Amino acid sequence: MADTLSIDDYAKLDDAECNERIEKARATLGERLVILGHHYQRDEVFKHADFSGDSLMLSRNAAESKAEFIVFCGVHFMAEVADILSRPDQVSILPDLGAGCSMADMADLAHVEKAWQELSSVLDPDESVTPVTYINSSADLKAFCGSHGGIVCTSSNAGKILDWSFAKREKILFFPDQHLGRNTGYNMGIPLDEMVVWDYDQPMGGLTADEIKKAKMILWKGFCSVHQMFKPEHIDQFKAKYPDAKIVSHPESPFEVCQKSDAVGSTEMIIKTVRDSEPGTRWLVGTELNLVNRLHQQFKHEGKNVHFMSPMVCMCSTMYRIDPQHLAWVLENLVAGNVVNQITVAPEETEMAKLALNRMLDASA
Ligand code: 13P
Ligand code: SF4
Repeated sequence: MADTLSIDDYAKLDDAECNERIEKARATLGERLVILGHHYQRDEVFKHADFSGDSLMLSRNAAESKAEFIVFCGVHFMAEVADILSRPDQVSILPDLGAGCSMADMADLAHVEKAWQELSSVLDPDESVTPVTYINSSADLKAFCGSHGGIVCTSSNAGKILDWSFAKREKILFFPDQHLGRNTGYNMGIPLDEMVVWDYDQPMGGLTADEIKKAKMILWKGFCSVHQMFKPEHIDQFKAKYPDAKIVSHPESPFEVCQKSDAVGSTEMIIKTVRDSEPGTRWLVGTELNLVNRLHQQFKHEGKNVHFMSPMVCMCSTMYRIDPQHLAWVLENLVAGNVVNQITVAPEETEMAKLALNRMLDASA
C-alpha cells in the first residue's frame, strides 16, 4: 500500500489529464472495478460509467455486480444502497462525500419516529399505516421501514409499491417527497383531499385527528429543489409557441406540471419516451439539465428537439460535485492499494434496510 494520494493535488489537474488517468486506472483495475453513473452526472464523468440508469436500475446493478469496488457516480443515498445490497467484502465508494441529496435531508429518523409516535395518539400505525420511503433517503429511514412492515420505492416503481403497501394496511406514510407521493397516489385514483401533508416542524404534522383518520396518504413535506422549479406556466408558454410539442416530466415535479404532461416517469423512462418518439418530435422535458442536454445531443440527428422546462438554469448541484478530478483521485488511490471515500452502512441498519429494499425489488420484479 502506498501513501494515500491527496485530493488537493488532483484539484489542480485539468479535465483532459484526469480523463487519461481515469482510463488508465480503469484498465489497470479491470474487473475488480465497476463504475455506476446516474443520468444526472455531467458528461465528463458519465462517459466513464460501465452502467448508467435510474435509481432502480443502478440498485440492481449494484446488487448483481461481482466487482470488488463499486464506484458510484451519483449521490450519497445511492452509494449507501450499493453498500447495503452488495456482498460484505465489496466496497462502495462515493467520489465526493459532499454529494448528498437535499431532498433526502428533509426527512431524518428523529422526525419520522416522532411522526410515528404522534400518529399513535390517533390510530395504531403498526396496524394501519405502511411506511414507504422514497429511495432518496438515508439508510436509517430504510431500516425504519424494514422494521415497521414498510418498503422502499423509486420513481419507476412507485405505483406497484403503493399497491403492495395498500394490500398490507389501509394508509401510507410517504417520505420524503410529497410530489412523488401525490402524483402516484392520484394516478391510482386517490382524491387530492385524501392526501394530506405532514409538516414535520409542527406538532401532529399540523393536522387534526379527523384529517389523519380521513387520509389515505400522509405525505411528508419534502421536495426536490431542482424539480420544484418547473411550473405549469412554463408548459403553457411553450405550447403557445409550439402547439404540437410533447411534454415529459419526472414525478418529483409539482402536481400541476405532471397533470399537464403527456408522460411522467423516471429518468430512464424519460429517455425511453424520447428515444421511442417519432422523428421530428419536439419535447419539453421537466428534469435535471445534464440529462436534458444529453438527450438533445443524442437525438438531434433524428430531427428531435429536446428543450429544458425552466427558463432558469437549474442543475442538481450535489450530483455536479462528482467531477473528473474526484473520480481520478479515487481510482488512482485504488490502484495504489488505498480505499478513499468508502460508504459503509452500520450493520444494525443494514439488515432492516436490506429487508425494505428487497421487498421493493421483489414487488417490482
Ligand atoms: P430516478 O430514479 O428517476 O433516476 O431519479 C433519481 C433522482 O434523484 C431524481 O431527482
Ligand atoms: Fe436529490 Fe433532487 Fe438532486 Fe435528485 S435532483 S439527487 S432528488 S436534489
